[in-house]
Amino acid sequence: MKNTLNLFFALLLIAIVQSPANAAGGHGAVLDDVDLNMKDTASLQNGAKLFMNYCLSCHSAAYARYNRVAEDLDIPPALLKENLMFTTEKTGDLMQTTMSADDAKRWFGVTPPDLTLVARVRKPNWLYTYLRAFYLDESSPSGWNNSLFENVAMPHALYELQGVQRVVGKVDADNADVATDDSVKVVGDTIFELDHPGMMSPRQFDEAMKDLTAFLTYLAEPAQMQRKSIGVFTLAFLIILMGLSYLLKKEYWRDVH
Ligand code: HEC
Repeated sequence: MKNTLNLFFALLLIAIVQSPANAAGGHGAVLDDVDLNMKDTASLQNGAKLFMNYCLSCHSAAYARYNRVAEDLDIPPALLKENLMFTTEKTGDLMQTTMSADDAKRWFGVTPPDLTLVARVRKPNWLYTYLRAFYLDESSPSGWNNSLFENVAMPHALYELQGVQRVVGKVDADNADVATDDSVKVVGDTIFELDHPGMMSPRQFDEAMKDLTAFLTYLAEPAQMQRKSIGVFTLAFLIILMGLSYLLKKEYWRDVH
């Protein structure tokens, strides 16, 4: 019993120490809620497109294969090859970046982490907030910073889409109700002003980041697509079995009574 208790506390301690809330930019951070619909194939496809065009140049998702992703998300093979892959790759390949880890380290100071499981470590709300929290910061080496992940080594990969935003303040008790419009936006607890607009309006960009977050969430657990439909099937099966068992019971007891 005592051993079990010790084990329990040890595991609890590990869970607390390792929880993403204690990792960079997480401690007590204000996160925006994202409501993902993992059945929305169009949204997941759009997320996959964004990921392959804007993230795979630096990050790998080396536990995922193109053809599995295409199959799960109903992406036709021709479309996959034409729009989403580098020309030299085969559809059965793992989703690996072409950037070498050494180059990456030299350029950014840290190697961009593999993103296959990032949605499990960081959780969707964190990702959704992080992807929208990049801002211009002339004092940082890359020229960018992130209000959720201070001094992040990642440059803003999506500034063409989002535009360039600057920090104008924090939301606190004095200004809890910030009026947001096409140029003023609140992400987490930070108020941003759009310096130059991007190709997308702020609402379109939020929607695109929701799609990208959904794709990263899918990537972290591809089996969730099947798991959920298997769950429904299993429950239906159990209900039918219960009905049949009841009929069988009645049949047996008829002779007893
Ligand atoms: C130019 C290279 C580059 C591109 C392009 C890029 N990243 Fe990054 N990313 C990095 C680097 C470098 C880090 C490490 C940051 C650090 O630890 O300071 C990082 C970190 C991250 C993290 C934080 C991981 C963690 O848990 O600490 C996430 C999430 C992430 N990137 C997602 C993305 C997504 C999604 C895209 C595509 C929209 C993308 N990145 C595009 C270089 C890049």
